[in-house]
Amino acid sequence: MPLPRVLSGVQPTGNLHLGNYLGAVRNWAAGQDQYENYFCVVDLHAMTVPHDPKNLAAHSYTVAALYLACGIDPHKSTIFIQSHICAHSELAWLLNCITPLNWLERMIQFKEKALKQGEDVGVGLLDYPVLMAADILLYQADQVPVGQDQKQHLELTRDIAQRFNFLFADPEQPVLKIPEPMIPQAGARVMSLTDGTSKMSKSDPSDMSRINLLDPPDLIEKKIKRCKTDPVRGLWFDDPERPECHNLLTLYQVLSGRPKAEVAEAVREMGWGQFKPLLTETLVEHLRPIQTRFAEVMDEPAYLESILAAGRSRAEAVAQTTLGAVRAAMGLSRPL
Ligand code: AMP
Ligand code: TRP
Repeated sequence: MPLPRVLSGVQPTGNLHLGNYLGAVRNWAAGQDQYENYFCVVDLHAMTVPHDPKNLAAHSYTVAALYLACGIDPHKSTIFIQSHICAHSELAWLLNCITPLNWLERMIQFKEKALKQGEDVGVGLLDYPVLMAADILLYQADQVPVGQDQKQHLELTRDIAQRFNFLFADPEQPVLKIPEPMIPQAGARVMSLTDGTSKMSKSDPSDMSRINLLDPPDLIEKKIKRCKTDPVRGLWFDDPERPECHNLLTLYQVLSGRPKAEVAEAVREMGWGQFKPLLTETLVEHLRPIQTRFAEVMDEPAYLESILAAGRSRAEAVAQTTLGAVRAAMGLSRPL
């Protein structure tokens, strides 16, 4: 039996933060032996909001190096850069032609990002989820490991695939596989350090709102020292009145690898003055090996390039097979 296939990606908007790590990359690394894995750096998605062309390529390499540093093993997983495989753009176009406009206008992330951008919203921002559907469907992925915020995009991907199969495929022989979202139980929605009701995000103007995977220990200490808490004595999970408390305890629980009940018991009578140094130390110790490995990978650009080149060629073969089937099903002529 072939292993089920997973595909996922992160946008190369600079550094990764703890939300990207706990919601996505850490789980990719943990599942590598159970699946056939494809992980891409989605640089075409990073262009859907204003970007600086001077940094885009470097950021893509940084994110690929972070995948390796977080434990993605190139012998077990195919790592590649989305824009290196033209089939992503081509399938996005073909899927555009069968995706109703109102499906896209409903997307929460589009509405939020469009609101932030005011007048200057590009068509790419609206079309973002169709490109994401193309990423997933090209590889006939069974599972897509992502954070909670991507659930709606996954549902849209499933709807697009179903519509495609309905319109163009024999019901006995669907062309596109319907993928399942794979969302972790803890860490699926890491919240901002400065506001426990909004998610940790690369686009928050304040760097104090997030822990980046490459933050040095003194900066992590400063961020945790200053992060928002409350004046209540004792710490506990799952209190809607205490979103910051729930978030910080969850970070500690997930990074320390201890069961939730055990953590709940240990922190029940703690104050912030006792808990914050504990969290800081856990974070610093968890990120240290990632940072060391990252520096090693960045020191050897030829190694990273060879992995991306090999990844590209493996991914391209799969992508071309699906694209060929989609083109044929939609009635395009064969290129001569
Ligand atoms: P992005 O940075 O938007 O490309 O997101 C890449 C991956 O990280 C996706 O799987 C997201 O669901 C996940 N992610 C982003 N922010 C968070 C967060 N605050 N908590 C959990 N997962 C997140
Ligand atoms: N939209 C995803 C995010 O911002 C990134 C992404 C693009 C993705 N293509 C994908 C994730 C394919 C999973 C599968 O988080």
